[in-house]
Amino acid sequence: MTRLLKMSKLLFICALVYNLFGPNVEGLGVNWGTKCHHQLPPDTVVQMLKDNGIKKVKLFDADEIVLGALADTGIEVMVAVTNVELDQLTKKSNAEKWVKKNVVNYVEKKVNITSVAIGNEPFLKDYKDMFLNSTLPALENIQKALDDAKLGDKIKASVPFNGDVYMSPPWKPVPSAGIFRPDVSDQVEDIVEFLHKNNAPFIVNIYPFLSLAIADSGFPFDYAFFDGNYTIQDGDVEYDNVFDANYDTCVAALRQIGHGNMSVIVGEIGWPTDGNKWANNSLSSRFYNGILPRLAENKGTPLHPGHIEVYLFGLLDEDAKSVLPGCFERHWGLFDYAGQPKFHMDLSGKDKNKTLVGAKDVEYQPKKWCVVNPDATSDEQKLNESALYACDRADCTAASHGGSCGGLHDTDKIAYAFNAFFQVSNQSKASCYFGGLATEVDKDPSKGSCKFNIQIKPYEPDSTSPFSWFSFSPSESPLDSSSMPRLVAAPWMALVLFAVILFVVF
Ligand SMILES: *[C@@H]1O[C@H](CO)[C@@H](O)[C@H](O)[C@H]1NC(C)=O
Ligand SMILES: *[C@@H]1O[C@H](CO)[C@@H](O)[C@H](O)[C@H]1NC(C)=O
Ligand SMILES: *[C@@H]1O[C@H](CO)[C@@H](O)[C@H](O)[C@H]1NC(C)=O
Ligand SMILES: *[C@@H]1O[C@H](CO)[C@@H](O)[C@H](O)[C@H]1NC(C)=O
Ligand SMILES: *[C@@H]1O[C@H](CO)[C@@H](O)[C@H](O)[C@H]1NC(C)=O
Ligand SMILES: *[C@@H]1O[C@H](CO)[C@@H](O)[C@H](O)[C@H]1NC(C)=O
Ligand SMILES: *[C@@H]1O[C@H](CO)[C@@H](O)[C@H](O)[C@H]1NC(C)=O
Ligand SMILES: *[C@@H]1O[C@H](CO)[C@@H](O)[C@H](O)[C@H]1NC(C)=O
Repeated sequence: MTRLLKMSKLLFICALVYNLFGPNVEGLGVNWGTKCHHQLPPDTVVQMLKDNGIKKVKLFDADEIVLGALADTGIEVMVAVTNVELDQLTKKSNAEKWVKKNVVNYVEKKVNITSVAIGNEPFLKDYKDMFLNSTLPALENIQKALDDAKLGDKIKASVPFNGDVYMSPPWKPVPSAGIFRPDVSDQVEDIVEFLHKNNAPFIVNIYPFLSLAIADSGFPFDYAFFDGNYTIQDGDVEYDNVFDANYDTCVAALRQIGHGNMSVIVGEIGWPTDGNKWANNSLSSRFYNGILPRLAENKGTPLHPGHIEVYLFGLLDEDAKSVLPGCFERHWGLFDYAGQPKFHMDLSGKDKNKTLVGAKDVEYQPKKWCVVNPDATSDEQKLNESALYACDRADCTAASHGGSCGGLHDTDKIAYAFNAFFQVSNQSKASCYFGGLATEVDKDPSKGSCKFNIQIKPYEPDSTSPFSWFSFSPSESPLDSSSMPRLVAAPWMALVLFAVILFVVF
C-alpha cells in the first residue's frame, strides 16, 4: 500500500515535471470532428486533450455535449457555424439567436470560447458559388451579435478558407506572385477588410498531402515534407517544402490587397494514415515529425518570419465522414477511432521519441468478428451485393486501393466489409447474417497490417431516459429480410419486456 502511494506520488511529480518542461508547440490546437459511428465519450476525449497538453480545439459545429465537456477546462474553443446555417444568418435576428444559444450560453457555463468559425471552406471550388453571397453577411451579423453581448473583444469571428481561394498565376508560378482566385477575389477582399477592421485573423487550411495525392501526378514527392531535397527558387528566396510556399502564396495574396501584415492562422493541417497509397503511418510520421519541430522553432516562413499558429487535423479518425474527397478522409486522426495513438509524435516539437497519451478506460465491444461463412455456397453476386450494402453503412475505406487492406483477396475483402458492418451495428446477430453468407468468429481475422477492428461501445449521451439502454438494433440487410426474424422494438414492447424482466429478476 505504501509502495503504491509512493509510486503514485512519483507519477504525480513526473507529470508535473513533464508539464513544466515539455510544453507543446506554442499555441498548438487540434480540430475535433465528431463524425463517427461510435463516438468516444466527450469526457474521455477532453481528458485526452489534457493528458497531451492540448489547450486549443477547433470544432465544426456547436455541439451541446462536446461543449458541455469543455466547460471549466480552460481549453480554448473555436465553435463553428456550419455552411448550411450561413444563409439564415444573413438575417440579424437569427445571428443574435445563434450567438445567444451557441456562445453566450456556454460562456456563462465557463466554456473558454475565443473564436467563431463562419462556415467551413465556404468558397471551396467544389461548392460552386453556393455560399458566395451569404458568408460576409453572416460574418458581420455574428460579430455584431458578439459585440452586442459584450464579448466582441474576447471572441472573434473569422472564416476558415480552403487554400484554393488563392493561387499563383500560371505565368508566374511562385509564392510571391500570389493572388486571390479571380472568381471569389471581390468577396474575399471584403471579408479581409472586415477582419482587419475587427482585429481578427485570416484562417486557411493547407494540405501538402492533397498536393501530393490529388494534384497532378508530377508533384515532387519530397516537396510535401520538410526534410526533402527538392526546392524552388523565388527571386532570392528558396523554398524547400510546399507548406512554406503555400502559406507565403496566401501572405502575398493578402499583401496584394494591402493586408500583408494580417495574422494568418492555419485552421487545418495534417496527414492521413490509410485509404490512399500516399497515406500510411510512416509518411504521416515523416510529415508531423517535420512540421512540429519547425513550428517549435518559431522560424516561420520567408514572407512571414516568426510564430505561426496552427490547428492540426484532426484529433480522431472519423469513420462516418463523407468520402467524396477520397477514401483517406476517414483516417486523418492523430489518434485512431478508439483514441489510441498511431505512432511516435512529439507535440513539443523537440524531436524526442515520445508517444501521445491515448484515451483511458476505453470500452470495446466483445472480442467477436464477422467473416464470410466458409460453409455457405459461394454466390459471388450475392456476396458482392452484401459487401456493397455493408460498406454503404460502415467504413470499408481501408480495403480500398492503396489502403492497409487493399491487398486482400476478394473473399477477405468481403469479410472485411461484413465485419465493419457488424461492429457498427453493435455486433447484433442480425447484422452478421446476410442470408447465411456471414458468420461470427471469436478468432481475430486480421491479416498483417490489415486490422479487422472491434468497435468501441456506442456512447449514449441521453441517460435521462430510464429505458435508453434497452434497445434492439433492427439493422438487417434488405437482401435477407424474408429469411430473418426482425427484432423491431416498438416502445410499448420495450415496456412490456422491461416488466417481464423485472418480474423474472425479482
Ligand atoms: C481562456 O483562454 C485564454 C487564452 O489561452 C487564457 O488566457 C485564459 O486564461 C483562458 N480562460 C480560462 C478561464 O481559463
Ligand atoms: C450573388 O450576388 C450577385 C450580385 O448581387 C449575383 O449576381 C449572383 O447571382 C449571386 N450569386 C449567388 C450564387 O446567389
Ligand atoms: C533527393 O532525395 C531522393 C530521395 O529522397 C534521392 O533519390 C535523390 O537522389 C536526391 N536528390 C539529390 C539531388 O540529392
Ligand atoms: C508590417 O510589418 C512589418 C514588419 O513587422 C513592419 O515593418 C511594417 O511597418 C508593417 N506594415 C504595416 C502596414 O503595418
Ligand atoms: C507508405 O507509403 C509509401 C508511398 O506509397 C511507400 O513507399 C511506403 O513503403 C509505405 N510505408 C509503409 C510502412 O507501408
Ligand atoms: C523510438 O522508440 C521506439 C520504441 O519505443 C523505437 O522502436 C524507435 O527506434 C525509437 N526511435 C528513435 C528515433 O529513437
Ligand atoms: C464481384 O466483385 C469482384 C471484385 O470486385 C469482381 O471481380 C467479380 O467479377 C464480381 N462478381 C460478380 C458476380 O459480380
Ligand atoms: C447501437 O447502440 C446505440 C446505443 O444503444 C444505438 O443508439 C444505435 O442506434 C445502435 N446502432 C445500431 C446500428 O443498431
